[in-house]
Amino acid sequence: MARLIFLGPPGAGKGTQSKVLADSHAIPHISTGEILREAVLGKTPLGVKAQGYMDRGELVPDQLVVDLIRERLDKPDTQSGWILDGFPRNATQAQILDFILNELSLDYDRVINLDVPDETLVARLLSRGRKDDNEEVIRRRLEVYRNQTAPLIDYYESREKLVTVDGNQSMENVSSALNKLV
Ligand code: AP5
Repeated sequence: MARLIFLGPPGAGKGTQSKVLADSHAIPHISTGEILREAVLGKTPLGVKAQGYMDRGELVPDQLVVDLIRERLDKPDTQSGWILDGFPRNATQAQILDFILNELSLDYDRVINLDVPDETLVARLLSRGRKDDNEEVIRRRLEVYRNQTAPLIDYYESREKLVTVDGNQSMENVSSALNKLV
């Protein structure tokens, strides 16, 4: 059983690698970014509330993502494992996640921190070209990551759950490094 949290800056490869691992372990890949983008596309009430924050590269309000994570983790398919990609993103979300997991009698095994230098991140994102992949918004997303998400590295290190993986290598090499851990 794999119960993993992926941490890392925008463009680190969280989505790419967590999808591969989720497929190979037949467990759900739970990406808050993807769920939010689908909501925006479908113009749901969640999407309408989230869109402006996402377009600016800001975090959407905690309550919106916390509610959707609680609901998703409570589905029966999480009993055999899961991968969280893009959640938690700040100290409040990390504390609430601990609370939710405790409530649902679940726990995580490892937190995988994908480490990639800024210049590689920017180059990857600019060549992908998603709606929030323009220079100004990428800069803001990196700033938000540094200020709000990067402190979670210490949070999970102090719980002895953190493993840092060099994400600045080919996708295949990152995958094989991850396969050795999971
Ligand atoms: P989200 O979708 O989570 O975006 P992000 O963190 O900015 O992550 P990315 O998808 O850009 O990067 P990634 O690390 O997944 O890399 P990927 O594998 O895609 O969030 C989007 C927005 O939603 C946020 O800004 C926020 O507004 C909101 N949001 C989401 N979660 C939230 C939360 N919890 N709280 C509040 N708001 C939230 O790869 C990127 C590119 O690099 C791809 O083209 C890929 O092919 C390429 N690539 C990957 N690995 C390699 C490699 N090893 N070598 C070469 N290229 C590679």
